[in-house]
Amino acid sequence: MNGIEIIGLGKAVPKTRLKNDDLRQYMDTSDEWIRSRTGIEARHLCTGEESLTDLAAEAARRAMENAGIAPEEIGLVICATCTTDYMVPSMACAVQEIAGIPGGIPAFDINAACSGFVYGLQLIHSLMNAGSICRPERSCALLIGGEQLSKMLDFSERSVSVLFGDGAAAAIVRVSAEKRFFCHTAAEGDRGALYAHTVGRNQIPMLEFEGKKTVSENPLRVSESLASEIMRDGYLKMDGQKVFRFAVHVLASEIDEMEAQSGISAEDIDYIVCHQANCRIIDYVRKQRKLPAEKFFMNLREYGNTSGASIPLALADMKDRGMLKPGIRIFCVGFGAGLTWGGCYLEF
Ligand code: ACO
Repeated sequence: MNGIEIIGLGKAVPKTRLKNDDLRQYMDTSDEWIRSRTGIEARHLCTGEESLTDLAAEAARRAMENAGIAPEEIGLVICATCTTDYMVPSMACAVQEIAGIPGGIPAFDINAACSGFVYGLQLIHSLMNAGSICRPERSCALLIGGEQLSKMLDFSERSVSVLFGDGAAAAIVRVSAEKRFFCHTAAEGDRGALYAHTVGRNQIPMLEFEGKKTVSENPLRVSESLASEIMRDGYLKMDGQKVFRFAVHVLASEIDEMEAQSGISAEDIDYIVCHQANCRIIDYVRKQRKLPAEKFFMNLREYGNTSGASIPLALADMKDRGMLKPGIRIFCVGFGAGLTWGGCYLEF
């Protein structure tokens, strides 16, 4: 089986940047609390006319430009997101249209929350090697990680809302006979750890029709108190300590897995790019494994946790800083709601 390589990266983040202290107008919090427990100093949030779909399309354009390819060379579009703007169509279809990528190719979304980018790379590796996808003249895949977590945040609830931010980043991927690629993904259903309902999933009043329940014709014609309950149902909820224990466990085990698959030890790998959830999660594993801080690229200070966008956003920042020189080898590790997790080994 051939490997895959990332030949271009691009990112797009909302213009509005909120520092930790800016959140004090919405909740009782402090820069000191957020910074010391998470490492986050700011986050970018969509405001006004900005939409996730537009950010994703902009990231895609920049990635194509960075790769030096035309939209006509894209043969597959996958978006990793859990905060898509539309139930239908998929964000991948919307991006294909907005970014001027000619149709007639597969385009779809995947939802593996914060592990979405690693899941997407595994899917591209399998699909491209199967040979049934991507005609020779359209040999590149576009993989986007994009999230607007702010849609799911209750800004009066301080323990969750301070952690997240919005953003999108894209990678152009193609098959490579020279570059090796290894990947492992997994999931274990646990809805209590981290979840948000589709808004109103439980509360929408049902109509009885011939003994069967059906959704009301006009589910939004509800009382004010029920409407606010419906809103609350859609907010992200998290058992922080449970997620912390899960994250440190799978981060360590995916580093082991990638060492075994690639034959390269964590000491010898150039960088480990983890899902940017919380610096304490990364520090815990780093200290356990006695690895130097420089090996772990971090940018969550600027963006907070951007879920499916966080790993490609980190890679795009590394590219902008000139860190992805030819020959660089990286382990990426994602973990998130599902619970899902996964690791991959990439060569540049
Ligand atoms: N500002 C000020 N005080 C706060 C805030 C805030 N934003 N949030 C909570 N507090 C208070 C609490 O009310 C509590 O006060 P009390 O002791 O008077 O009751 C106190 O701080 C401690 O609260 P805890 O929830 O116990 O805080 P903890 O030390 O566990 O830290 C955190 C919370 C940072 C979420 C931690 O559990 C954690 O790191 N979890 C990992 C989960 C994570 O990072 N998830 C990211 C998303 S999931 C993913 O991407 C996979």
